[in-house]
Amino acid sequence: MIDIHCHILPGMDDGSADMKESLNMARKAVEAGITHLFATPHHLNEKYVNVKSNIIDRAVRLNESLQEANIPLTIHLGQEVRIHRDIFTSLEKEEILTLDDNGTYILLELPSGKVPTYTLEVIYELLLKGITPIIVHPERNKELIANHKLLFELVQEGALTQITSGSIIGNFGKSIQSFSKKIIKHNLAHFIATDAHNIGSRGFTLQQAYETITKTYGIQRTYYFKENAEQLLNDQSPTIEKPLPFKKKILGIF
Ligand SMILES: [Fe+2]
Repeated sequence: MIDIHCHILPGMDDGSADMKESLNMARKAVEAGITHLFATPHHLNEKYVNVKSNIIDRAVRLNESLQEANIPLTIHLGQEVRIHRDIFTSLEKEEILTLDDNGTYILLELPSGKVPTYTLEVIYELLLKGITPIIVHPERNKELIANHKLLFELVQEGALTQITSGSIIGNFGKSIQSFSKKIIKHNLAHFIATDAHNIGSRGFTLQQAYETITKTYGIQRTYYFKENAEQLLNDQSPTIEKPLPFKKKILGIF
């Protein structure tokens, strides 16, 4: 399996602290059936600044260490970029790292409490530059939880989304699990990823999430998410299903 979002690079953010922990995470990822991982350290959130060149250096080193340790996992380049008014300055300075450094997709993080007023504008401007933002874990954003329609608008504008596997299996509570399922039901989710930070509570739960998705929506939906991750890895466009708007009252709709 392919995981497009995780914090496995050593000593960059609140994920792995050092190379030893990164190798332990890698072993767990392999045990969990993952073969390719996009390493996506935080950038421009209130705590961490991790520019492209630093991420590339660290990813190269981790790939070398994985080979030395005979761990069959390949690390791909990525970055989790917090939405920010300075995002375009950071882009001009070549601090932003698209997935696999291909210039076509980035992971875009919203602050957990709100959706900034300039979000649609940033999505629009990124798309104009040929970069498609993949909004990470929208199911955990308080404003989107309160206003589902806003998520529909962001996807209509051209953003894609990634739901975190732990949300689907209930690790973040019932309401986030329920919203995750609504997002999938309304064709507003395009990828599932672990957002793994460690080998404990924030680990590699991709397989469990896919099992839940298969049980709830059938195997085709799981194939859809797996194939989309493969498309990213192969530098091809993922499949985008037509988003379905939320009705005014959603009763028992899963
Ligand atoms: Fe993350």
